[in-house]
Amino acid sequence: MARITDLIREHEKYRGRCINLVPSENVMSLTARKALISDLVHRYHHKDFYGGQKYIQEIIEETRELLSKLFKANFAFPEPLSGNISLLSAILALSKPRDKIAVISPENGGYPINLEPLDRIPIYLPYDESIANINVEEAIDLIHREKPKLIILGSSFILFPQPVEAISDVSEEIEAKVIYDGSHVLGLIAGKQFQDPLREGADVLLGSTHKTFPGPQGGVILTNDDEIAKKISKIVGFPPVLIDNPHINRIAALGITAQEMLLYGKQYAYTVIQYARRIAQELFNSGIEISFKAKNFTNSHQIWLRTNEESGRIMKDNLEEARIIVDTGVRIGSQEIVRRGITEKELIRVAEIISKILKGDKPSKYRDEVELIASKLNEIKFSLDQSS
Ligand SMILES: Cc1ncc(COP(=O)(O)O)c(C=O)c1O
Repeated sequence: MARITDLIREHEKYRGRCINLVPSENVMSLTARKALISDLVHRYHHKDFYGGQKYIQEIIEETRELLSKLFKANFAFPEPLSGNISLLSAILALSKPRDKIAVISPENGGYPINLEPLDRIPIYLPYDESIANINVEEAIDLIHREKPKLIILGSSFILFPQPVEAISDVSEEIEAKVIYDGSHVLGLIAGKQFQDPLREGADVLLGSTHKTFPGPQGGVILTNDDEIAKKISKIVGFPPVLIDNPHINRIAALGITAQEMLLYGKQYAYTVIQYARRIAQELFNSGIEISFKAKNFTNSHQIWLRTNEESGRIMKDNLEEARIIVDTGVRIGSQEIVRRGITEKELIRVAEIISKILKGDKPSKYRDEVELIASKLNEIKFSLDQSS
């Protein structure tokens, strides 16, 4: 037996006994996972060159159609191998070297894409911490002054909808394009519970397909604009720039997940937001510092604990000792436990345990109890597994 096989088994045993609250991750249905290990994992898709294409082209086209329907977008590109590559593709397609690109600074929770090697110039959108969002008035001034070619909305730390309409209005005046990086909230957008960037004026919606969108690790790009679609095609298609083989097994799993979201996405996304608020409320009631009570704490899957880098690391480590997994942010995300079917009663108990540990209780005291809760969550809800 290969050592790695053993390690995978141990990993799966371990993670199966953990409650995962990392907001960047999720779990696929078994139906979608099967696509990943199907024969498609071995294959190429270039139809004019390779034989054996009898079903492959149809799988890709069906996935495009499901994504188009789900996001009401004329063009859907499932090719990007990650959220990062979807963003990079859009940047390369829609800007030139020395262009300015307006982004949310990583200091304010923006995604830390490094524009320097691309020879693009970042300008940072003014941000108002008291509303955890872009300061729209100041951002409009900045955009008028700096005239960026692209404006990227969306964030890694995201609680509330982005001001897409206001920013898109001003972008039209200076002929900039608006990209909405929905990596974190794509599943909530698909479930129609967050905001609808393409209807609010964004030219492109893109992002990861494995955070709130409960699909395979990968990326997607969506647009309604013919010209933009042509430019994106040149970056994600053939002849290759960033992607040659887009991994057909991943595309198939993405298509299956899109179908699940068409069927169950609304209820899933609604539950994700309600459960995030529920955890926040429980923590708040027990005296833990969580901001934005007046705004119901969050409109997304995330809630944030007030920390600095040092205390964030300690919190993450302490919680993991009790088999509760978070990042050092500390961000807590409800999406995976919703997919795993946690009940409201179990959710409240997990929040209670988090609170007790944050207040200094010994984590190991709760390990068995958390493991027991986690080990019961082994069916994927809001998925095609239910109907198979
Ligand atoms: C806002 C945002 N964009 C892009 C990415 C990159 O996504 P991926 O990890 O799929 O490359 C992330 C990842 O965390 C993100 O938070």
